[in-house]
Amino acid sequence: MSTLSLLTPLHFLKSNFLALIFAFILWIPARFLYRRLVSPLAHLPGPLLASGSRVWKLWSVYNGHTETDHINLHAKYGPVVRLAPDEVSFASPAAAKDILAVGKGFRKTDFYTCFPIPDNPDIFTEIDEGKHALLKRFAVGPYSLASMMKLVPFMDEVGRELIGKLDGIAGVEGRVCDLGDWLHYFAFDVLGEVAFSVRFGFLAQGKDVGGCIKSIDDIQWYDGIVGQVPPLDYLFRRNPLLGLLRFLPFLAPSPPLIVQMAFGEVEKRIQGGKYVDARKDILGQLMEAREGNPDKLTDANVVAVAFGAIGAGSDSTASTMQSFMYLVLSYQDVYKKLETEILAAEKAGQLSDMITYAEAQQLPYFQACLKESMRLRPAVGLDMQRFVPADGAQIDGVYYPGGIRASVNGWVLHRHQETFGKDADVFRPERWLEGDDREMARCMFQFGGGSHLCIGRNLALLEMNKILPQLIRRYHFELVYPERPLKHHSTFFVVQKGLEVYIRKREI
Ligand code: HEM
Repeated sequence: MSTLSLLTPLHFLKSNFLALIFAFILWIPARFLYRRLVSPLAHLPGPLLASGSRVWKLWSVYNGHTETDHINLHAKYGPVVRLAPDEVSFASPAAAKDILAVGKGFRKTDFYTCFPIPDNPDIFTEIDEGKHALLKRFAVGPYSLASMMKLVPFMDEVGRELIGKLDGIAGVEGRVCDLGDWLHYFAFDVLGEVAFSVRFGFLAQGKDVGGCIKSIDDIQWYDGIVGQVPPLDYLFRRNPLLGLLRFLPFLAPSPPLIVQMAFGEVEKRIQGGKYVDARKDILGQLMEAREGNPDKLTDANVVAVAFGAIGAGSDSTASTMQSFMYLVLSYQDVYKKLETEILAAEKAGQLSDMITYAEAQQLPYFQACLKESMRLRPAVGLDMQRFVPADGAQIDGVYYPGGIRASVNGWVLHRHQETFGKDADVFRPERWLEGDDREMARCMFQFGGGSHLCIGRNLALLEMNKILPQLIRRYHFELVYPERPLKHHSTFFVVQKGLEVYIRKREI
């Protein structure tokens, strides 16, 4: 290459520098206007900023209240809203069914690739539908209710440990108990037991072990924000040049202590390249599946799926239990009815020492309270996004072009008045007991839907059905600040703080 040919672009740059800056400044609004106006979505209502850029979404997640922003957006603009130049949010359960349904060709967007670990996707982060189906096929057995039932004795041990801790707090007159934190610790310790047969020790230590809850929250802030503009991930987490800046915690957070503990368990079980016999927890069952299918499932897949449980299963279950307790305790009439039902079952000798899943199914008001909590405050606060198939598709009876992003948010869907009633904004468990609730049940998306329906729902439901009535049965609770809303922010999951209660042990 001659010196002249190298100099020419440099020379051009130097002599046209100002013109180039000016062109760039013009390009931004021009691009904004182009995206706003020249688009098959141009006719859809929505915030001005959202129609020409992804800044509205970024800002919303950065502020931590996307769930409320989406509710307000649909209240203002109607059931179909343009959320970004190529993205539409839908408020109706009928639309959600179309978007999430199995076999309609909608697939997860690149939003999900911004969750760790980028080079070894798990069931949640794998966006290639073929690979996802394969991973899920092997995980369905380990996550089934039947498999989970076999792990109940370990779950009960964790439940007893929680009760031991709460007994201690209840014994001190006037002591404030941060029930939200204890439920969070419980969810982590149960997960350690059922996924890895490791007791993480949150309950034993009565604290966030190794700052794990905090670091998962930090990581999810990053995931949620960067996930709104996925190419940004290549600028930060996936950028090899930023290796030099690894001292910045959000660029290279060290794996939380519990992840290291779980890794220790994986290493222990692989001896001399062979799996050793261990408890049939999630990891153990996945390793067994790997041995029978070495050509289909790799070691890396096993590790990804088992570790995916920590990210996907801890905050989600904790958040749902916190919402349940917060809502029930905020509505005194509901709390009284629930107490009455559970104490009557206790008196009638219908409850075991540690309440079983089957016994909890016989508590209709409790079931109604649980469903109503998951309806009003689902644990996922961001929108679930899918790409419309290349040839386009009908969503709620209207055609949308291929390649655009279709989004649904449980906080919006679950407030659909035609489905849940005119008082859909109100916590009223009775709605589940007034006649046929099947249509409402079909329109609940707290666990997502279709081929990406939450794989951990059996575990979460088993855990919550056992521990929540157990707590109401054993203690009388009172909110320390009955008028104060529960503090929360949405990264992907709704992370909640401040569920402070007075707690008294019942005489039973
Ligand atoms: C009450 C507790 C839980 C709630 C509310 C919940 C909610 C959800 C939701 C809404 C999705 C769909 C996300 C989407 O499509 O964008 C999902 C997916 C998933 N959840 Fe859960 N989850 C809970 C507990 C768990 C647990 C305990 C685990 C594992 C131990 C788990 C593992 C997963 C996985 C792996 C996926 C991805 C499924 C797929 O794409 O096929 N979840 N969850």
